[in-house]
Amino acid sequence: MQRIWISDIKEYVDKDIEIWGWLYNKRSKGKIHFLQLRDGTGRLQGIAVNGECDESSFNTLTEIKMEASLRVSGKVTADERSPGGYELQVKKISLIQNPASDYPIGKKEHGIDFLLENRHLWLRSTRPGAILRLRSQAIMSLRSFFHNRGYVLIDTPILTGSIGESSSSLFSVPYFDLGEAYLAQTGQLYLEAACMAFGKVYNFGPTFRAEKSKTRRHLTEFWMLEAEVAYLDSEGNMQLQEDMICHLVEDILANSTAELKALDRDIEALKKVKPPFPRLEYGEAIEKLHELGSDIKWGSDLGGQDETILTKQYEKPLFILNYPKKVKAFYMKENPYNPETVLCSDLLAPEGYGEIIGGSQREDSRERLIARIHEQELPEEAYRWYLELREFGSVPHSGYGLGLERVVTWLSGIQHIREASPFPRTITRIYP
Ligand code: 4AD
Ligand code: MG
Repeated sequence: MQRIWISDIKEYVDKDIEIWGWLYNKRSKGKIHFLQLRDGTGRLQGIAVNGECDESSFNTLTEIKMEASLRVSGKVTADERSPGGYELQVKKISLIQNPASDYPIGKKEHGIDFLLENRHLWLRSTRPGAILRLRSQAIMSLRSFFHNRGYVLIDTPILTGSIGESSSSLFSVPYFDLGEAYLAQTGQLYLEAACMAFGKVYNFGPTFRAEKSKTRRHLTEFWMLEAEVAYLDSEGNMQLQEDMICHLVEDILANSTAELKALDRDIEALKKVKPPFPRLEYGEAIEKLHELGSDIKWGSDLGGQDETILTKQYEKPLFILNYPKKVKAFYMKENPYNPETVLCSDLLAPEGYGEIIGGSQREDSRERLIARIHEQELPEEAYRWYLELREFGSVPHSGYGLGLERVVTWLSGIQHIREASPFPRTITRIYP
């Protein structure tokens, strides 16, 4: 008997095949068992009728528990009334394992803490399935965007000796006789070296922040896609982000239809993500926030709440540019028109989602960079190599980092970032 994947079912109408999978659910009515079978690629209704299906198989089905593993053979039929449009007329069952106890995740509503505690099993359910498939699609789409534009993928190190973003949120690990190493908060500094070698580069990997933030936007481990381009200014940097986000949203709309539907995502909202994206200078954003009732002061960073009320006003992603120098990282280039600010941009997702990308033009003057390193009390010696990039053919350059889980949260239309990661890490969770 030919074993097939449920995702290919439509090619096997009227044929005898076998599915290798699990029992997702079962309903029995007299001499008929209605099975919901899943094999990871989809779900299929199986119908086992006593007399048509062999007798020992029918009896097995009477005792079988949810999430039992089994091989089911039978004939595929097309039926418009069936949820997926196809059914399996079951002839034979080979039981691989019948669980000894009831599956912990049932039909009743479970609290989020219970589900997270059972994340290793929860992955099998509809909603995590849809979110993580969408995530997989988003990763492929982002990678192909850069690959097709001739960017070189540079895998930057996870163990680093220099602080990438801020000393307040570092994970450190003992590193042999060399003191402490840090888990990467960003690959940016290494990408800056690589962009001077390859012109345009990107990376995509895990990053770590020991932030004590317990919000719906923060994880302690998350994936970041970063791009870095030589001879690119802050304006060009925003253009690149706009192109990338439009490509991503188009790709998701075209390829993740079933997932968006399963998540009940408002597709019309995503269809509005078209260029050009609106832009606000930091000062204008502060004024707008005051109109919206916030009491934020010029000079403060935007908090999560500010981002929410601001982006509820917009249907497209919103750039906020040129923040005050004192709330941003040491490597951002001073704004020649207003030295209190830096040439940077944050991209905020609409519908209240908030920051998904942080980017900037980089400081290309060795002297100003050293001054910034001292201002922020960072150890100059650790940046010796980084400063040398400003000695040997320094050029204007820019780049940005996109938080994958933040983007997946937005695209999926879900409330909390923890569902956008297969096994989320937060300050209160390292299990499973
Ligand atoms: O704005 P951030 O801190 O920028 C950087 O790390 C730059 N070095 C990137 C660069 O220019 N190459 O982080 C970038 C993005 C944020 O916009 C956000 O989407 C995400 O990373 N991010 C987080 N996502 C989940 N949990 C956290 N704790 C995050 N911190 C940042
Ligand atoms: Mg940021």
